[in-house]
Amino acid sequence: VLVPTMGALHAGHRSLLEAGRKFAGAHGTLVATIFVNPTQFGPGEDFRRYPRTFADDRKMCGAVGADAIFVPAAEAMYSSDHSVFVEESVLSKGLCGRSRPGHFRGVCTVVSKLFLLFNPQVAVFGEKDWQQLAIIHRMVRDLNFPVRIAGCPTVREPDGLAMSSRNRLLVPAARQAAPGICRALLAIRKEVRGGERRVDKLLRMLAGSLESLPGAKLDYARIVDARSLDPIRFVKSAACALVAVRFGKVRLIDNILLRPPRERI
Ligand code: PAF
Repeated sequence: VLVPTMGALHAGHRSLLEAGRKFAGAHGTLVATIFVNPTQFGPGEDFRRYPRTFADDRKMCGAVGADAIFVPAAEAMYSSDHSVFVEESVLSKGLCGRSRPGHFRGVCTVVSKLFLLFNPQVAVFGEKDWQQLAIIHRMVRDLNFPVRIAGCPTVREPDGLAMSSRNRLLVPAARQAAPGICRALLAIRKEVRGGERRVDKLLRMLAGSLESLPGAKLDYARIVDARSLDPIRFVKSAACALVAVRFGKVRLIDNILLRPPRERI
């Protein structure tokens, strides 16, 4: 069982590792990978600033019973003249793909390489990166990778902020404002549960709440079909609201299922 991460592990990763340990069972092998993958960061993004906390990461992997940690050097993963990438061409276009061109190409490439290196039966990813999870499902289906993808629910701080390695980069005022992202998502889910189906109305509410958070700059707020990630006009079947918000240089993403798919993706 493989749990790919970029390190700076937090309780969200711990839940992925614990799920991985369960999938592997007493006799299976659980491998955590820690690699801040340069190809998924664009120019001017936070590759250099991305937190690196290997000593603590190693302790967490040990505590959850990982059998091995794979921590490659960038030169070991990418030859200086590497020229082959894996690209998903539909689901990657919108949402984070629009704000971060090339990001999902980097993710698909490194995840494919990890799958080929480890040949896992199961690979575990977080639902906080809903678009990434949908893209990895699509890649596995379309390229016939013999691996089962397991998605794990987002883990949140007590105040609702989705756990993210980037949270530690937030200045105190932004850290205080950031739980408003979760509140805004919960508020529209409440509207949906109360019978509101019109996406334009829900999006106005959502964007309004996010834009009013002190110090926040809205990157995007969208409501889409939870599987195809296509925009929808009415919340009828499986629907997901996804947002990205910047606090200074720190970009946070979050999402909520307004209506869950029959099977989790
Ligand atoms: O979600 C992440 O941490 C990364 O995108 C992943 C899947 C480990 C690939 O670098």
